[in-house]
Amino acid sequence: MRRFTLIITVIATMLYAELSAQENIITPAPVRVQGGTCGEDCCEPAIPFDFSQISKLYIKGVKGIDVKRLEAAVKAAGLDVKRIKHTAKRGFINIFIEPESMSYDEGYVIFTSEHGVDITARSAAGAFYALQSVRQLVESGEWQTGAIIDYPRFKYRSLLIDVSRHFRSVDFLKRQIDMMARLKFNHLHLHLTDAAGWRMEVESYPRLTSYAAWRTPATWKEWWYGDRKYVEEGSEGAYGGYYTKEELRDLVAYAQARYITIIPEIEMPGHSDEVLAAYPELRCTHLPERQGELCIGKEATFEMMERILDEVMEVFPSEYIHIGGDEASKENWKLCEDCQRRMREEGLESVEELQSYMIERMERYLNAHGRQIIGWDEILQGGLAPNATVMSWRGEEGGIAAAEAGHDAIMSPHGYCYIDAPQDAPPTQPEAIGGYLPLEKVYSYDPAPETMDATVARHIKGVQANLWAEFIPTDEHYEMMLWPRAIAIAEVGWSKPENKEFGIFRGRALDIVERMQSEGYHPFDLKNEIGDRPESREPIQHLALGKSVTYNYPSFYYGPQYAAAGDVALTDGLRGTWTYADGRWQGFLGRGGVDITIDMGEPTTIHSVKADFMQYCGPGVYMPCKVEIWGSLDGENFEPLTTIDHEVTYEDTPSFMNFGWEGETEVRYIRYKAHRSKFSGFLFIDEIVVR
Ligand code: ACM
Ligand code: ZN
Repeated sequence: MRRFTLIITVIATMLYAELSAQENIITPAPVRVQGGTCGEDCCEPAIPFDFSQISKLYIKGVKGIDVKRLEAAVKAAGLDVKRIKHTAKRGFINIFIEPESMSYDEGYVIFTSEHGVDITARSAAGAFYALQSVRQLVESGEWQTGAIIDYPRFKYRSLLIDVSRHFRSVDFLKRQIDMMARLKFNHLHLHLTDAAGWRMEVESYPRLTSYAAWRTPATWKEWWYGDRKYVEEGSEGAYGGYYTKEELRDLVAYAQARYITIIPEIEMPGHSDEVLAAYPELRCTHLPERQGELCIGKEATFEMMERILDEVMEVFPSEYIHIGGDEASKENWKLCEDCQRRMREEGLESVEELQSYMIERMERYLNAHGRQIIGWDEILQGGLAPNATVMSWRGEEGGIAAAEAGHDAIMSPHGYCYIDAPQDAPPTQPEAIGGYLPLEKVYSYDPAPETMDATVARHIKGVQANLWAEFIPTDEHYEMMLWPRAIAIAEVGWSKPENKEFGIFRGRALDIVERMQSEGYHPFDLKNEIGDRPESREPIQHLALGKSVTYNYPSFYYGPQYAAAGDVALTDGLRGTWTYADGRWQGFLGRGGVDITIDMGEPTTIHSVKADFMQYCGPGVYMPCKVEIWGSLDGENFEPLTTIDHEVTYEDTPSFMNFGWEGETEVRYIRYKAHRSKFSGFLFIDEIVVR
């Protein structure tokens, strides 16, 4: 206690200017860094600190603390030390675990004088995080004497790894855990079950792993859009895998040693196709051929889920168990005699309430065993289970609604935290889901901004990035999607907003990426990032800027969801980014296509008329198969300027094309028509540029 008070006093009275180089070493950015050292009555300027002089480790722990883990972390930080029984005068690293030293569980103070390093923390986790910071100081080679005081902004700092869509080895997971620990993450959410494969050994239901863990073909897209076949373990072409309980216990211990809690997710009632493929007797009574939602009418469903959760609790000691709860279609429940009987007996008025009935029962079961549930934000439908924590993914509304009702929430809105979206120019990236989610956008996320009501903010426990793996078959590809965007999430979760600045962070992220590459990881090559669509960066000047646009066939009007700026969107000078959801691209759905007329206001000599389109086949966005452009002086008699035919083919890679006319003519009206191809879906167009 005395030592800690001294350190804080020293920091508070430090006379020397903060050293900006020192401030920029540690990721996630710490609360406070200051150079120089102060004694009883004078302060010394900062001097380079030589970590190679450190040879003696003293740990003053408290009962129950695993000092071996801390010793391992000191060595992993690059310090060659021997444990000693008393503090040394020189060449020391002292770790004092003092539960009374501060109010932040995971906080720490590092104080370096010319003689050595003192670390004070309230808990072993805090000391561990201090050592992750020391590791970065050692690696930087730039640390000078000074002090760091640090603690996290949020208690829950997490990544989701999806091992269902593509199975990953335990070694792969351990490598990600190593990196997560260095960045002070404290939770790993393992998405263990989903239609694409069940991944945990369950002794009481062996077909979950002898059958539901294996599919053919291997490629998720072929499987999902094909006949979604599961096959017996060991059969020809069987693709998948699962973890034995022994392997999972080993993984849990590995993570625990790095102060990371693994949260297992067992999906229910939706995303359960594989469970029902293995145990078809649990489908609804009208026996749909394919069903993704468990039958809530049958007691056998609850018997199964409880036995599975018994085994999950045996393996995973986490307080929280994630029970999924997302995206359940409720249609089968409306047709099923058992589900309908359950609704009558329980007085449930809607299938949403039927879903809540299941979630609440599972919560009671887990609570009775000392555990708590987390569920995706759909668990709010039909009434939230009394003690549930909500993971908000469809936006932030679910998390906020839960917090307003006094529940805890973890923010994971897809617009910022779904790192399965491409992180750079989509035409240069492998096929992915979603728009464009660069490092900068992930970094800009604030789970609890100042504008948030304080009573709500109190319940926002943290942040999680999710990496779904539908389109990510290999480990290298998975790492490329994960890093460095996960580094940004680490800083969102740990650092105070006033200590965040993207330009500075990007510099640190570049260094981390380089280090990861040298250690055999496969992060995205940030230094060669292209960035946002060049055309979108500056407003464009052209002859039709601000001119009025008429949409010729109301039935072919742009869809309300993708109206962008409405009737002015195509002549507002702002060109679309890499993503169609940016409020700049205008999306046309339904029969026909785009058919608009621009009124230039007066007869005008023009030399070109051109517009951009994008193609993104996954979400159903296609190029036009034909573009026609006409000009007119009176608005009635139109002369054709050009007709362009384009063969539209299904491509995995997004593309962008410009369709237009060049020449010379005088017009007042320009009609631009783009025809939909044989693929039904959206046409997305932006800015009709006239020169
Ligand atoms: C989710 O992305 N369905 C949680
Ligand atoms: Zn049913």
